[in-house]
Amino acid sequence: MRLDVVTIFPEYLEPLNVSLVGKARARGQLDVRVHDLRAWTFDRHNTVDDTPYGGGPGMVMKTDPWGDALDTVLADGYETGARAPALIVPTPSGRPFTQELAVELSERPWLIFTPARYEGIDRRVMDEYATRMPVYEVSIGDYVLAGGEAAVLVVTEAVARLLPGVLGNAESHRDDSFAPGAMANLLEGPVYTKPPVWRGRDIPEVLLSGHHGKISRWRRDEALRRTTLNRPDLIERCDPKAFDKKDREM
Ligand code: ADE
Repeated sequence: MRLDVVTIFPEYLEPLNVSLVGKARARGQLDVRVHDLRAWTFDRHNTVDDTPYGGGPGMVMKTDPWGDALDTVLADGYETGARAPALIVPTPSGRPFTQELAVELSERPWLIFTPARYEGIDRRVMDEYATRMPVYEVSIGDYVLAGGEAAVLVVTEAVARLLPGVLGNAESHRDDSFAPGAMANLLEGPVYTKPPVWRGRDIPEVLLSGHHGKISRWRRDEALRRTTLNRPDLIERCDPKAFDKKDREM
């Protein structure tokens, strides 16, 4: 998968060299390219923003640097054989970024991120590129960040770990909270490892029983308990058919 990021803070994306994403890059599973938007400014102050039409507070990112940057990135990508780009625009006004969207993006070969600062990017930029490729405006949560770079790190990590061969154990995202499938819409319950006693605290006995049926039931009960406590909205959105009689006894 190819990832391009155009930003006025390239150094903010340094964490893409670390851990899971860094290793995926080193192995050649991810081709990540970070570009400085100011390389496409041609005035003495490398201006990327201007005052909003219609007035109001803050500044708006200008069309020209983004247009020139994206044209260059696209031309370069096509030249090196990349195909089917999609534009990812982090913004608090976007659609919620979910595991389902992470799966969808992980199936695309080429993602181009345009993290903005200030009040966002002139609307015409997204409208222009939407005539050529899918444009995903995504929000990582109901809060406002100072810019979209942290959202790029979030989306990249969620997507990269879904790529074939990136996670050591392909099974390990099957039970993820939010993964489609058996535990649909339930949060994962607690987990334990050795030693069996720590500061006088035991682990739940059932986990030592070797009884797979009982362990599965316990995990499901814990998932239900945690979801009810932390995310009742997820339970309400579940298909009632997803619950069995024992679930209802919880
Ligand atoms: N930029 C600022 N806030 C954001 C958010 N919540 N999600 C994505 N991008 C953002």
